[in-house]
Amino acid sequence: MCGIVGGVGPSILAAEVFEGLKRLEYRGYDSAGLALIGTGGVEVIRTACGRHSLDDLKGRIDELTPGASLVIGHTRWATHGAPTLENAHPHTDCTGRVVLVHNGIVDNFRELRAEVVSHGHELKSATDSEVIAHLIEEELAAGMEPAAALGSVFSRLSGHMALVAAFAQFPGSIFGIRRTSPLLVAEGDGRSFFASDAPAILDVATSFYEMPEERVIAIGKLANGAAGVSTLTPLAIDWASQDVELVGHQSFYEMELSQEAGAFLDTVSSLIDEGGGAVVDELKVDPYELKRLRKVTVVGCGTSYHAGLVGRFLIEHFAKVPVEVDVASEYRYRDPILDDDALVVGVSQSGESLDTITAVKGAAAAGARTLAVTNVIGSQLSRLSDTVLYTRAGPEVSVASTKTHLSQIGALALFAIYLGELKGHIYPEEAREARNSLRKVAAAIEVALERKRGYEEKLAPFVGTDRFFFIGRNLQYPVALEGALKLKELSYLAAEAYPAGELKHGPIAMLDSEAVVVALVPRDRLREKVLANIEEVRARGARVIVVAFDGDDEAATLAEAALFVPEVRPIWSPLVTVVPLQVMAGAVARSRGLNLDRPRNLAKTVTVE
Ligand code: AGP
Repeated sequence: MCGIVGGVGPSILAAEVFEGLKRLEYRGYDSAGLALIGTGGVEVIRTACGRHSLDDLKGRIDELTPGASLVIGHTRWATHGAPTLENAHPHTDCTGRVVLVHNGIVDNFRELRAEVVSHGHELKSATDSEVIAHLIEEELAAGMEPAAALGSVFSRLSGHMALVAAFAQFPGSIFGIRRTSPLLVAEGDGRSFFASDAPAILDVATSFYEMPEERVIAIGKLANGAAGVSTLTPLAIDWASQDVELVGHQSFYEMELSQEAGAFLDTVSSLIDEGGGAVVDELKVDPYELKRLRKVTVVGCGTSYHAGLVGRFLIEHFAKVPVEVDVASEYRYRDPILDDDALVVGVSQSGESLDTITAVKGAAAAGARTLAVTNVIGSQLSRLSDTVLYTRAGPEVSVASTKTHLSQIGALALFAIYLGELKGHIYPEEAREARNSLRKVAAAIEVALERKRGYEEKLAPFVGTDRFFFIGRNLQYPVALEGALKLKELSYLAAEAYPAGELKHGPIAMLDSEAVVVALVPRDRLREKVLANIEEVRARGARVIVVAFDGDDEAATLAEAALFVPEVRPIWSPLVTVVPLQVMAGAVARSRGLNLDRPRNLAKTVTVE
């Protein structure tokens, strides 16, 4: 999705804002640009070279006059208009004195575009964003101050978006406003910044602030009609700049995969006290309210949705509360039956996925209590929910999530145990024991990660295949879904996931000797059933890979390759069985010569519907 970085203050360099854009590259983009206000007015450079746009932009920074005190930058992920030079941001008005960058979609842009065209404005692009610059131009011409003009135009725009604008007559201030879409404010070394997310500016900013909605904020010099940084709520972001640097690995995907045992341990440790009890001060919901919960709904997208599916088993197991799980983009258009005995849990690594945000907002409006499980402090989801459980996975740069997935499951598991304890379904001693056993799973995850090379060797004969099926039952079905999603995202291959028992109801027709079936068969109460499903698959000639617990020779004899993971309690098994599948997705993509950090068509944080 589009990324925004803007900086103002003495000695701000276009190169610094560029570095911020570089750090937003992971969000996905297809064109990029920079603008500054120098002594000669607004200067803009833009480029549309697809994934190489930032490399191209870097080579052109010298075209900008040095010594400006205000620079704004943008990476664009095309929505309205193709990824061309004309459509790249920043955009300007007819006078060239208003310059802006925009993330999100102006839903009513057609009528607004028709309006500005009818007023004689010449539009140079097909974007919804440029229209905003011309509307602001009209307000300025009518005598408004920049902040008022921006606020007035913004109130006419429908949709979710963040806007950052600068004005030639105000070279000391940048103005920002947002609705739902991410944007934060930061300061450091006498300079002030706007950015789509914190990783973009970790090396230049020391203090971070929440950006309110629907309010024009000015950074740099104070400006009439705009609130300044002193009015904003600080954000306790403790990530360091080195957390987002690629060290010792070929890709962020592989680096973050290697960190996942630590990320999981940090997350669960932050939610367990020394005596094995729950750290409940994180969970700011009245225990009595939790105790009378009669229904939990978990919503999320992609990998976070899959963590929610695992969460369903955990909550039903420990807390005996009925749980439904839905894809956020579907849930938001349902008519769910909710009241204040219902809790809706939004799971989102970024806390900025628009689908999840709107699903949780809708649930709150229908009377439900809400809980966010997110990795980003101060994210939109964390702010709109009644309470938050933070995962402590550190920043996740890779588009394809790994370490946050395990951390989400860890947080949901601890919530499930706490709820079970509150509701009296498990004794405090059992709860403590369950928490401690969960914490110990980190060691098993680490062992599985240490086997990465071994998994890759066993997978080598399969990397040329282009049809994969993942099967598992109960807790392993979400793992199958996650394995298939990882492979799709990174390798663009057809990968399907099914509950193992469902194969015979149709999908088995697709199996032949060209197909590879990855069967998840940990030692649990359904193991025999899955072994029988593997026999069915073998009888159709498909090649089989099993993911099984150490020592399960029986499962191994049914497969061409066995990917063993250390044995853990069946209830924690998704935390280890997913590891070989994450390795597999990376290995297959690499064998096909694909860049693991730049999967085509994907954005890290999906802030549009
Ligand atoms: C994960 O590998 C994917 N990139 C994607 O499915 C992701 O999980 C989804 O977009 C949700 O993102 P969120 O967790 O930030 O809300």
